[in-house]
Amino acid sequence: MGGSGDLEHAEYMGPRNAAGPPRPDGRPRGDTALYHRRALPGWAVPARPPNVSRRIPPPLYGVGLIERIPDATIRAHCGEGHIDSAKLQGAEPRNQVARFGHKPYLGTVMDFVASELFTQGISNALEGPGSKDDDSFPDPEVDSKFVADLAAFVRGLQPPGRNGTDAGGEAAFRSFGCSVCHVPDMPPATNVFSDFCVHRMGEALADGIFDHEAEGDEFGTTPLQGLRFKTVLLHDGRATTVDAAIRAHGGESQRAADAYRDAPADQREALLRFLKTL
Ligand code: HEC
Repeated sequence: MGGSGDLEHAEYMGPRNAAGPPRPDGRPRGDTALYHRRALPGWAVPARPPNVSRRIPPPLYGVGLIERIPDATIRAHCGEGHIDSAKLQGAEPRNQVARFGHKPYLGTVMDFVASELFTQGISNALEGPGSKDDDSFPDPEVDSKFVADLAAFVRGLQPPGRNGTDAGGEAAFRSFGCSVCHVPDMPPATNVFSDFCVHRMGEALADGIFDHEAEGDEFGTTPLQGLRFKTVLLHDGRATTVDAAIRAHGGESQRAADAYRDAPADQREALLRFLKTL
């Protein structure tokens, strides 16, 4: 089914200044350098760069349906600040609106897979002529058919579905304002619980990392589908309980977090029961 990793597999990302044309909104452009905490036998782990942040890999289940959500559906939910994909060389559909990753900048499964391959040290045809790494294998190491086959496999990983319902908890989810960002259905993806927009989440969650268009305190709304299978939560895995993950919400989500914090215990418990059905 595909799944998210635990801390042992987390990657670290550090900021560096990205080259490229100025952003349309005049804000500074940033990019990331990847740092691997582990290396295969025979390879050296590079020195840890300053200002790195842990990133939990997003689960792969359901991404085929997420890819098929029309750009217009996502745009209808996002206000100012939502970012468009920086890379559009992928396969059909050629989505303009980014939707994959914690700081989303990719709109298709093909681009997502190609980018992850490169991150894992496998240069590939889709990443363009710039796709070169410093190992001894000739670049690109895999061709576009390889990437397309892998993308087709990933698209086939089924969403986790629901494990029951809880009407009282669902009502609390809506009344606290969670469903404004964690939108239950984004057709054709149902029970996905994300608006696929980027939000300013406040200083406590900020990692200070510019990633393509997303700034230090900006993150895409994590889809809550499959939440019941996760053991580490938030972009850097800092929360091990759903309660802690909710209480960490700040910035644009501060009001929802406050509503949760201030609610009577039975409403909070109902909400947590509901979240266990996802
Ligand atoms: C303004 C939009 C917004 C609102 C409102 C909001 N969230 Fe979130 N939520 C996010 C974003 C963005 C993240 C990712 C933050 C990160 O990874 O640091 C997130 C992450 C989460 C996570 C962690 C998921 C994971 O797999 O790591 C949970 C659980 C969650 N939200 C539940 C809720 C609940 C319950 C509410 C209502 C009390 C709520 N959220 C309100 C935007 C929102």
